[in-house]
Amino acid sequence: MPPKYYPTRGHLLVCQGNSCQARGSSLLYQALWKHLEREALSYYKQGGSVRLTTSGCLGACSYGPTLCVYRQRPEGLEEGWYAAMEFPLASRIAQAVHEDAPLPVEHRYGPALIAGPEAD
Ligand code: FES
Repeated sequence: MPPKYYPTRGHLLVCQGNSCQARGSSLLYQALWKHLEREALSYYKQGGSVRLTTSGCLGACSYGPTLCVYRQRPEGLEEGWYAAMEFPLASRIAQAVHEDAPLPVEHRYGPALIAGPEAD
């Protein structure tokens, strides 16, 4: 029997590399996890839709804690990259993913779209 598949609206990854941990990414991850649980936003909760995991170094060590988010949009796969992440902004990003709303722009860097349906 295959594992149960949980559909999601987006996936948030919080870096747990050494530099980000020195800037509080472990506490950020724990606080965000509890928030998603409490607000029933986690993908495994009834009506929830957000996947949250840790990641290794995301390549922006001097600007951490770093968070990235991926989600499928009608235009293609959207990626949001964030530096100097704090809990209030992280919870707003999770809420935007859950509501299919635009991602917050504060602390964001990098590309908005990595592949459209028409891309080769
Ligand atoms: S340690 Fe987090 S981006 Fe490198």
